[in-house]
Amino acid sequence: MVTIVVAMGLDNEIGADNQLLWHLPTDLKNFKEITTGHPIIMGRKTYESIGRPLPNRTNIVVSRRKDWFEEGILIVGSIKEALKFAKKMDEEVFVIGGGDIYKQTIDLVDRLEVTQVKANLKADIFFPKISPKIWNKTQETCHEKDDKNEFDFCFQTFERKVKLV
Ligand SMILES: NC(=O)c1ccc[n+]([C@@H]2O[C@H](COP(=O)([O-])OP(=O)(O)OC[C@H]3O[C@@H](n4cnc5c(N)ncnc54)[C@H](OP(=O)(O)O)[C@@H]3O)[C@@H](O)[C@H]2O)c1
Repeated sequence: MVTIVVAMGLDNEIGADNQLLWHLPTDLKNFKEITTGHPIIMGRKTYESIGRPLPNRTNIVVSRRKDWFEEGILIVGSIKEALKFAKKMDEEVFVIGGGDIYKQTIDLVDRLEVTQVKANLKADIFFPKISPKIWNKTQETCHEKDDKNEFDFCFQTFERKVKLV
């Protein structure tokens, strides 16, 4: 099972200036719970935005750079290679961004774990459209904003209608 994990605003916005757009500790906690113990695949820019390997997960970072090395992560030259390594390691694999990587993997994954943030924010990176012809929303849990989480948001699970072969 390969799953994309993403938090997006109402216009599918996910980032600006190589940063996230919101501060939602409940979402970060959920992200940690979902991904801990499993391989996570990300683009080089997302890795640099996080700034360190995420603990207790194999961090697989995709880059075309030949001369780049970082302690504590596995660097691969293509998405195909990333998926191959990750699938060998575990039955549950997570693709965690960013926009470039989501665009190239949405047609390759089985499930989407979306945090739908109820806000319209200025952004330069967006998630692709989730086509209802392809994706079925199977679960939704909503949370209201509070003193820690600055916007309302819903956790949504989408399953592919026609399974990948
Ligand atoms: N809201 C969310 O859930 C979420 C999650 C993650 C990230 N984000 C946001 O998304 C933004 C970053 O996304 P982004 O689209 O700019 O960058 P990205 O997808 O994180 O990384 C892009 C980089 O990945 C490498 N890459 C992409 N495709 C490749 C391929 N086919 N083969 C080999 N390497 C490949 C390249 O690295 P090289 O240039 O090194 O070759 C490319 O520059 C940030 O604002 C971040 O905060 C949001």
